[in-house]
Amino acid sequence: MRKSIKNVALCMAAALFLTACGNSQEAATTAEANSTDAAKIESVQSDGAEESAEDSGNMLIAYFTAAENSVVDAVSSASVVTIDGEAKGCVQAVAEMIQETAGGELFSIQTSVEYPGDIGELIDYAAIEQDENERPELTTHIENLEDYDVIFVGYPNWWYDMPMVMYSFFEEYDFSGKTIIPFNVHNGSRFSSTISTIQELEPEAMVIEDGFTVSINNVTAAEESVKEWVDALNY
Ligand SMILES: Cc1cc2nc3c(=O)[nH]c(=O)nc-3n(C[C@H](O)[C@H](O)[C@H](O)COP(=O)(O)O)c2cc1C
Repeated sequence: MRKSIKNVALCMAAALFLTACGNSQEAATTAEANSTDAAKIESVQSDGAEESAEDSGNMLIAYFTAAENSVVDAVSSASVVTIDGEAKGCVQAVAEMIQETAGGELFSIQTSVEYPGDIGELIDYAAIEQDENERPELTTHIENLEDYDVIFVGYPNWWYDMPMVMYSFFEEYDFSGKTIIPFNVHNGSRFSSTISTIQELEPEAMVIEDGFTVSINNVTAAEESVKEWVDALNY
């Protein structure tokens, strides 16, 4: 039953997702997207470890985006948005908007799984991953978690839930005593019930229910609403 619902939704999601958060003109070439990714990974690995709590304002902005976890020659067909001439995943774009207002350090959640760049294949792959309750292996790790009191956590809505790699992420870390602020990008389902799921996974953390959610169609224009949301959080 669940499978047949998924199959119907798969067609709908594939059709919708093809419009994605950037159109084909906006999509980066594969080479451009990958050099962006490489720079981001490098900065995450070095800056994340070295930045002091004082410098980073005690805030970490952790996010998962398909574009930084897809096979090399298919990134341009995945969900990519171009902002100020730079191609990036939708969730990454929102993460950077948050950083512009709140400060803090960016952390890209990455996995050894190379997700299909083809959207139809990705949707199918993610359905199986969720059905089998998998825990994709993380390849980036927060080395200095003790430095952060406030952790923004961003992810796409995949199949009315978080991608399974987010379960790997929350199972790797104990965020007890910390504040988790969720944000996500979706194509109609907003957060689904992911915020309460995060609270279940991190029972001793304070999970802010007033997370930021934006449709893939509105990511490029989200800067002002991100700023208003961050300002209202008052961190
Ligand atoms: C495997 C998969 C499943 C998806 N399932 C949903 C869904 O259930 N509800 C929804 O609103 N959007 C869904 N989408 C659309 C994504 O939420 C959207 O493409 C994503 O937020 C883009 O973020 P990213 O470019 O940073 O990966 C799905 C997309 C993919 C690839």
